[in-house]
Amino acid sequence: MIAKINGINLAYTDEGRGTPVVLLHAFPQNRAMWAQQVDALSKSYRIIAPDFRGFGESDAPLWHYTLDQFADDVNGLLNHLSIRQAMLVGLSMGGYIALGFYRKYRDRMKGLVLADTRAQPDTEEGRAGRFAMAQTAYTKGAGAVADIMLPKLLSPIALRTRPDLVQRVRAAIEQTQISGIAGALMAMAERPDSVPLLAQIACPTLVITGELDGPTPPADGKLMAGTIPGARLEIIPQAGHLSNLEQPDAFNRALLDFLEGIS
Ligand code: MLT
Repeated sequence: MIAKINGINLAYTDEGRGTPVVLLHAFPQNRAMWAQQVDALSKSYRIIAPDFRGFGESDAPLWHYTLDQFADDVNGLLNHLSIRQAMLVGLSMGGYIALGFYRKYRDRMKGLVLADTRAQPDTEEGRAGRFAMAQTAYTKGAGAVADIMLPKLLSPIALRTRPDLVQRVRAAIEQTQISGIAGALMAMAERPDSVPLLAQIACPTLVITGELDGPTPPADGKLMAGTIPGARLEIIPQAGHLSNLEQPDAFNRALLDFLEGIS
């Protein structure tokens, strides 16, 4: 489905009935990465999964992107769907956006899942890497971004043994417009430090991390779970950064246990 939100066409999935659960995708992916979660969860919950501006079937304007703006788009989508409160599940960049959403719209958050993400801002070196990747996207195209990102997104074992999964993740990157890739890189590079926010998070929270996650390793998950009051930590064995794609059954089980506990 498509809705006009904050001046752009935003594509989203809306399936199932019950307590709303919003799935926020990673960079540079789109809402298709949640297919197995939509299947498993929409039997008991209303699952909403947007393509962020710049990704998937949403518009990718050539302009300045910020994490606040992504959070505003999620807020606008909830308004459009007349949903007052929802659980938010954000993976990696989706987690940065969920934290940004909490900062601005905490009354709308019924529960929070932070998967394969981190609260710390980029380091100087990390910001330089974002700048370099934006130039690579601009001069060489999304295929070159896929070459850089695939070893970060998937574990070495998945890269070696799961060609279908590798192809699926690569295809999503290659379909992404350069304006979206560069815009999101700028937004992530400029994101604020969310570590001071963690102790203030008052809604039920689950932190999930793939055991083999390179970009946001289990130590990042432990920091969040150890600081957010009452948060639980779930480490998914044999999973890299996109833990929901590498180990969907374990990921869905952790998510369903958590959702059942609070809905
Ligand atoms: C993601 O998976 O969303 C990205 O790896 C996040 C990042 O680059 O910081």
